[in-house]
Amino acid sequence: MKSLKIKKAKAVSGRIEVPSDKSISHRAAILASIARGKTKIYDFLRSDDTNSTLRAVSLLGAKVRKSTNLVTVEGCEYKTPSKEIYCGNSGTTMRLLSGMISGFPVEAKLTGDESLSKRPMSRIAVPLEKMGARVKSRNGYPPLTIRGGRLKAIRYILPVASAQVKTAILLAGLNAVGLTYVKEKIPSRDHTERMLPLFGVKISKKNGWISLRGCQRLKAAKISVPGDISAAAFFITAAALLPGGIEIKNVGVNPTRTGFLSALRKMGLTAVLKNKKFYGKEPAADILVKKSFFKSSRFGKKDIPAMIDEIPLLALCATQAKGVTVITGSEELKYKESDRLEATYSQLKKMGAKIKLLPDGFEIHGPSKLKGARVKGFNDHRIIMMLALAALIADGETIIDETTGVSISFPDFFRHLEKVTVR
Ligand code: S3P
Repeated sequence: MKSLKIKKAKAVSGRIEVPSDKSISHRAAILASIARGKTKIYDFLRSDDTNSTLRAVSLLGAKVRKSTNLVTVEGCEYKTPSKEIYCGNSGTTMRLLSGMISGFPVEAKLTGDESLSKRPMSRIAVPLEKMGARVKSRNGYPPLTIRGGRLKAIRYILPVASAQVKTAILLAGLNAVGLTYVKEKIPSRDHTERMLPLFGVKISKKNGWISLRGCQRLKAAKISVPGDISAAAFFITAAALLPGGIEIKNVGVNPTRTGFLSALRKMGLTAVLKNKKFYGKEPAADILVKKSFFKSSRFGKKDIPAMIDEIPLLALCATQAKGVTVITGSEELKYKESDRLEATYSQLKKMGAKIKLLPDGFEIHGPSKLKGARVKGFNDHRIIMMLALAALIADGETIIDETTGVSISFPDFFRHLEKVTVR
């Protein structure tokens, strides 16, 4: 995509709705794909990543119908797909589906784009092989060829805090003989655990172990997807850093996802949550944010999973906070759609941030005046959108190169941003 030019803004103001939650949409489509009957998913996220999941489950035999606000998925017993399953840029599609495919007597090859082909897959291959699946990879990287079959349940302590790995094992466990147990050292997003009971699956949590019994039949469900807090985070940031105020409607506020809000509150965020409601078992609220005066803070390993996708934004906010903010324990960022530690560090530095790269995070001295510069988005949706916000508070004009990929999670991002920006 072409380079983007973005000028400093005077203020932001307005009311918006952000796209539906990506993690919940992927899970709804994948669980529906093996459930008996037709699952209706209201407000399913329509983006490149979630389209990859819909295409994938169709290839495995599920019947998918899309209309404006509704996606219907009729489940099946998976069959061997007629061609390879292209997962595009989506790590969630590849990792979650690997788990589900493992429990069926089929063989499937999963491929991805250049970025996905560089993302580590041993983290799922190891436990899935322990359960009895055959997972062939390119030295731990995609493409993956999975030969599934009769699995046996395992007890597994996750070596990395990752909801994708946790979910891959639980999905394999659905078709394994016996009780599958997973334990995480630091809790990661729990959308799978909240959604499985809606499909009739019994799942329990005791002493930090999540467990489910295999061979339970899933039955079709009705799912409504709230707004994605990871998408809302860009507008929370805009409203916190600029005069004015923004109200974001119907945002999912599952506590395993609200780490960014908690972190900013610790730094001095002015935000109000109102109209609280539930989408199935997922809490949601409207979030009203106003210009905030940030002070520095420290964040470590245990804070990261609940804001894993928002760390680049937290770093941007820290450039405007008084004092020294230290973020550690976030080495997982190196394995995202781009190396987000390096990308955040190198590009914010070009804009005048006083930022030091640590092996697992950053040390940021603030507040510092950012200035327009020529930066790179690394074709990573979250980096491009973070830089667009940095540009709104930077003096002069910023040019962002390598801007393909915003449609991975937030196809209308720039239209929304333009709508709330006052120049
Ligand atoms: C996701 C989990 C996170 C997150 C990703 C979506 C999910 O990845 O970064 O955007 O839907 O489970 P990890 O579980 O690998 O940390």
